[in-house]
Amino acid sequence: MNRKQIIGAPQTGNKAEAFEAADDIPANPDLSRAIGSVIAARYGRRDMLKGMLGVSAAAALFGAPALTAARQASAAAAAARSRYVFDELEAGVDETHHVAAGYDADILLRWGDPITADAPELDVMNQSAEAQLQQFGYNNDYVGFLPLNAEGSRGLLCVNHEYTNEEVMFPGLGRQDKAEFTGMTKELVDIEMAAHGGSVVEIARNADGKWHVVRNGKLNRRISPLNTVMGIDGPAAGHPRMQTSADPKGREIIGTLNNCAGGMTPWGTWLMAEENFHGYFWTDQLDADGEPDVTGQAEARQMQRYNVPSMWYAWGKYHDRFDITKEPNEVNRFGWVVEVDPRNPEARPVKHTALGRFAHEGAETTLSPDGRLVIYMGDDARFEYVYKYVSDGAVSEDRAANSRLLSKGTLYAARFDPDGSLHWLPLVHGHGPLTAANGFASQADVLIGARLAADALGATPMDRPEDVSPRGDGTAYVMLTNNSKRKPGQTDAANPRAESDFGHIIEIKEENGDHAATRGRWSILVQCGDPGIAAVGAQWNPDTSENGWFASPDNSAIDAGGRLWVATDQGRRWDKTGKSDGLYGVETEGSLRGHSKLFFRCPVGAELCGPYFTPGGETLFLAVQHPGTDGTRNLKGFERDSTFEDPATRWPDFDPQMPPRPSVVAVTRQGGGKIAI
Ligand code: FEO
Ligand code: CA
Repeated sequence: MNRKQIIGAPQTGNKAEAFEAADDIPANPDLSRAIGSVIAARYGRRDMLKGMLGVSAAAALFGAPALTAARQASAAAAAARSRYVFDELEAGVDETHHVAAGYDADILLRWGDPITADAPELDVMNQSAEAQLQQFGYNNDYVGFLPLNAEGSRGLLCVNHEYTNEEVMFPGLGRQDKAEFTGMTKELVDIEMAAHGGSVVEIARNADGKWHVVRNGKLNRRISPLNTVMGIDGPAAGHPRMQTSADPKGREIIGTLNNCAGGMTPWGTWLMAEENFHGYFWTDQLDADGEPDVTGQAEARQMQRYNVPSMWYAWGKYHDRFDITKEPNEVNRFGWVVEVDPRNPEARPVKHTALGRFAHEGAETTLSPDGRLVIYMGDDARFEYVYKYVSDGAVSEDRAANSRLLSKGTLYAARFDPDGSLHWLPLVHGHGPLTAANGFASQADVLIGARLAADALGATPMDRPEDVSPRGDGTAYVMLTNNSKRKPGQTDAANPRAESDFGHIIEIKEENGDHAATRGRWSILVQCGDPGIAAVGAQWNPDTSENGWFASPDNSAIDAGGRLWVATDQGRRWDKTGKSDGLYGVETEGSLRGHSKLFFRCPVGAELCGPYFTPGGETLFLAVQHPGTDGTRNLKGFERDSTFEDPATRWPDFDPQMPPRPSVVAVTRQGGGKIAI
C-alpha cells in the first residue's frame, strides 16, 4: 500500500505457549504431514526444475517489440509454449474484476462480513468497533490457507487487514487532512483500529467446488490493534527501549497494525508482517513547516531514520500510546513479524524480535537443505534493504522446538554487487561496525534499529523491496515496486533506472542452491513498464503481449510447479499505464524467460494482494485491496477521488447504498482442475 498517496504527504515509501492446541478444535492434519507437504512442495521442485535451471539467463533476449505481423506470429507461438496454460486476459480498466476465460473468480469474504455466529451484518450507516471486532476487517492483504483435513476441502483462511480508507468507509467524512483529521472522532478511530489486524476464518468447499465461510467455525477470530494481547520474544524482549508505562517489563504489547504481506511456517503458524507502523504515531510538536519535530526526543536519530511519527492516522489524538511525546517507546514495539497459531485461539500471538524491526512487507518461509528455516523479507520504503533470517536449529516435528526457531537465528541484509555477486551481511552485535561506539550497545539495539545496522554494514539501498518469494531450489524472486526519488547518478547495477515509476524483479540464486548460504548471484528478471516506450527502459521477453506487461510488482507467489506469479500495486500511477492492477504469470526459465501473461485484473483503484494457492493447486485466493481509491483522479472516465458518497466503483456489491468493499476472491477452474495447467 501507499497510504501517503491518499493523504498527500511526501512519499518516503510504503508479527511457548503458542503451540498448545485447544481440546475442542476440529481435526487437523498432523505436523509431520504439514512439514512433509512443505518439503515435498518445495524440495520436490528441485527435480522438476533441474532441466530448466541449466538454461543460462543469457538465453533471454530482451528488447522492445515492434508491432509487425512477424512479431504477432512470434507472440502467438510463445503463448502456445507458455508454462501458464490459459488464454490471456485483455488489459484495461473498469469497475469490476476479470479472470481468464474458463475460470470463476467468486467473492468469498468482504469487509464487514460476519465471521462469528453472533456477529451482526455490516451496517455502514451505523458501524461500531464492537461489531467490527466480529466482522471481516478492512483492506485484506496477505492470504494464507491452512488445511484442516487431508482432502484440503476444509481449512483456515488467515488474512491480514493492512489499513483503512476512512473516506470510503464512513458516510459524510470525505478525505481527511494530515495532522487535522477534523472529522475523526474517537468512535471512528476505534472502528478503524478494529478493522486493522487480521482474521482467521474457517472455509469449506461444496460438492460443486465452490468455497463458503463456516460462520460458526470454532477457530474463527479477529486479531486487532485495539484489544489483542501479544507476547514478545527474542533479543529485544524486555529491553528498556521496549518498556512503556502500560508494560514496564517490556514483554506484552496490545495489538499489531499495518499487517501487509506475510507467510505460513512449515508447522502451520501464520506470520503477519508489520509494515508502515510509523504512519500511526502522532505528536503535537510541529516545526515551522508543520512537520513533526522529534529533535527533543531521546530517540531522535532512530525516529528520523524510521520516519516517526508520520501521522497518517488520528489514533494518537485519542490513544496516548500512539503519541510519541507521551509514550516514546511504544513505537519500538511495532515494525516486527508476528507469529499466530491459527489452530489455537487461546495462544497469544508473539512478536519475534530476532527478525528485526523495519517496514516488513512479507515473511515468506523456506528450508535450507539441512532443514533450517529461512525467511525472506523486504523493507518497503525507498532506498531500503532486502533481508533474510536463518534459524540456528532445524525444523522438526517438535512444535515447541519449532517455535524457538524464530527466536534464535541470524538476520542478514543483502548487498548486491555490480559483478552479479550477492553478499548477505549479518546483523550481529559486535560484528564489524555494530558496536557500542557506533550506537549499538547490544543485539537488542541492532534489531530495534535494523535499518541503522544495515546502513552501517553497507547493504544495498533498493527501489522499495516488497515480497521476496523463495523456491525450493535456492532461487528467490525480489519484487522492487518503484522509486521515483532515485535521481540520475544514484543508480546502480541492481537499481538501474532513475525516477523509476515501474519497478523491476531481481532473481537470486543462492550458492549451492542453499537458502541459508551467505552469498549467491543475482540478475534482473524483468524491468517493468511499457516496452513500447523507449524512454521507459522496460525489459521483457520480446514475445510479451500488449496485455502482458505490467508495472509495480508487489506481492508474489511460487506455485507447486515452481512457477512465479506476480501481483501489482501501481498506487497513484494508474494513469501512466492505463491498466488495472492484476496478477501475471512470469516465466523464469528458458527462451521464454521474462515473458509475462495477464490472468486476473482488479476493479478500478484496487491493488492486488495475496496471492495464495491451495496445496493441490486447484484454488487460488486473491485479496482485492482498497477498490476505488488509488489513482482515480487522473484516470480517464473516473477523474475524481473516491468518497463514501461518490466512489469510483461500488465493487463487489454494486449496491447504491454500499461503498466499495475490499474482498477475498476464490479463483477456481470451471469443471474442476488445477489452475493454469
Ligand atoms: Fe503494504 Fe508494500 O505494500
Ligand atoms: Ca504489498
